[in-house]
Amino acid sequence: MKLLVTGGAGFIGSAFVRTSLALNTVTRIVNLDKLTYAGNLENLASIDQDARYRFVQGDITDAALVESLLAEEKPDAIVHFAAESHVDRSIHAPAPVFETNLRGTFVLLEAARAAKLGRLVHVSTDEVYGSIDAPHEADEKYPLIASSPYSAAKAGSDLLALSYFTTYKMPVLVTRASNNYGPYQFPEKLIPLMISNALEGRDLPIYGDGMQVRDWLYVDDHCAGIRAVLEQGRAGEVYNIGGDRSLPNLEVVRRILRATGQPETLMKTVADRPGHDRRYALTSEKLERETGWSPKMDFDRGLALTVDWYRENRGWVERVRSGEYRRFYEENYGGR
Ligand code: NAD
Ligand code: TYD
Repeated sequence: MKLLVTGGAGFIGSAFVRTSLALNTVTRIVNLDKLTYAGNLENLASIDQDARYRFVQGDITDAALVESLLAEEKPDAIVHFAAESHVDRSIHAPAPVFETNLRGTFVLLEAARAAKLGRLVHVSTDEVYGSIDAPHEADEKYPLIASSPYSAAKAGSDLLALSYFTTYKMPVLVTRASNNYGPYQFPEKLIPLMISNALEGRDLPIYGDGMQVRDWLYVDDHCAGIRAVLEQGRAGEVYNIGGDRSLPNLEVVRRILRATGQPETLMKTVADRPGHDRRYALTSEKLERETGWSPKMDFDRGLALTVDWYRENRGWVERVRSGEYRRFYEENYGGR
């Protein structure tokens, strides 16, 4: 299969590129990525000499570029990861979120429609279901109740993608995954931020009471789920992808402190995130039933692997913590 991947220099996209090449599920991967603060070619250093791989720096909102790439490469499918992916940043600066997540997805869909593309997997999130009271879990028919500019833009792009199936019979599929963790994740999301701060003996900022619940999915399990949808999913359908591991934030942070050998006194309560969703919960029963996929990674083992990776790759963390990261960190946490 020949694939065009968008956002393949980010956390999940780069894992998808690396694992798909390693598993030989692709004959060619073209990676279209703008290289925003979150895109990092270091994430792909292990495969950038692979003859099956091509990198193109560019913006998914650039219709002429996307059209010419589709005409030149004639991929069998697009796997669409490119997005502004962080809730806190979407609260500070919503404009790029709508530009990339909504308009960028529209540009991609239009180019794919004109090129009569075989398949498009739109990678989305369980955050579109909003906060869910225990003990309920969202299935794919659950209503969309987005709370942040990030989740609202993702929900809009999901609906847009599905409308191309309904209206134009385009073979579009949507995946909605829970919170990912693993190596190469930008240290702005909970797990990599807490690990990298803990390894340096810095404060661990807990939003509000820390009892918000998230479901944790190891990034390679997510990529396997996306491949299952790409290869076996039914066009026009949505597939949830969860890790089957719900934990309150405080419990995740305590485990990180134990794994890094640091004291609980590093935890500092800070002002809560505006519009903070209390609990995400989803069921991936549909994906499991239709494709046989299931999450393989045990959370404590995945967390230990991730802590080891950040311990061994401090140079990577230092390099991505550029001036831009420091500015965001001061803005986001300074005001709390
Ligand atoms: P990330 O922020 O690590 O990477 C995003 C990538 O997209 C970067 O390489 C960036 O350079 C690129 N990009 C951004 N704007 C672009 C544009 N206009 N044109 C081309 N490239 C652009 O994100 P991630 O965590 O890897 O998430 C990937 C996808 O998975 C996103 O669509 C996100 O909504 C979804 N998702 C993420 C999670 C999670 O826990 N991280 C969970 C579920 C779904
Ligand atoms: P995050 O990793 O930003 O993912 P999302 O908001 O998309 O679920 O946050 C996960 C949880 O951790 C969320 O409840 C917010 C909380 N959190 C903190 O308590 N402190 C932090 O510094 C960050 C980044 C997140």
